[in-house]
Amino acid sequence: MTNNNIYFIANWKMFGSVKLVNSLNNVISYSKKNKHKAKIVYCPPYTLLKSFVDKTKNSNIEIGAQDCHINSDYGPYTGAISSKMIKDLGAKFVIIGHSETRKENDNKKINLKIKSALNKKLNVIFCIGEKLIDKKKNKTKFVLKKQLLEGLKNLNKLNKVIIAYEPVWSIGTGIVPTENNLIKNVKFIKDTLKRSKKFSMSKVLYGGSVNQKNIKNLMRIDNIDGFLIGGASTNEKIFIDIMKKSII
Ligand code: PGA
Repeated sequence: MTNNNIYFIANWKMFGSVKLVNSLNNVISYSKKNKHKAKIVYCPPYTLLKSFVDKTKNSNIEIGAQDCHINSDYGPYTGAISSKMIKDLGAKFVIIGHSETRKENDNKKINLKIKSALNKKLNVIFCIGEKLIDKKKNKTKFVLKKQLLEGLKNLNKLNKVIIAYEPVWSIGTGIVPTENNLIKNVKFIKDTLKRSKKFSMSKVLYGGSVNQKNIKNLMRIDNIDGFLIGGASTNEKIFIDIMKKSII
């Protein structure tokens, strides 16, 4: 398998500086000569979106935000950022429903945010995933199905929605699900999407403690369409290493 058309989405969370963005020369040259056409997307904090867009202008790297407001336009919401504003900066993606933001976002609000992003023609990286307690109580499928169906309720244009399966217990812990577990849950997500015909083509990524050591094993799971990578993506050398090692 190559990493053809595989997504490598870097979720920088609350990390990074203008100086660091300006030093990212190797990943830019990698994106240009990457003949396997890995799809690279950087999702930095809002404060670095413009620096990233400028820095990656002549490369094959796309930029995304990490969240957006439910209102797609301007409005009286202090501290908030809308999809219109994200789009205006030249970003093309937005992460919605990440578990680190789910305390303030129920499925209904996530659904409104996805609608607002699609309204402005942004690509959505829609995160779902069970908590450890759900897994222990054998409720993983129930949780995933609920998050998917409620998050995608009344949506049609789903070619712009990518699902990121991120078990909450694997984020930032160094623990990745077993191969069997991952195959089973990704298949469940894809089957659930297929049953609702509108979403049958959606890509499903995996996220949670992906690094340069486990990428080869993860790449062997062939129903995964890419990776959402947190910590390991903030180090340019490691991020490139992950992409290189994903060609197996
Ligand atoms: P991690 O984060 O790779 O640091 O576990 C992934 C994510 O939260 O998207």
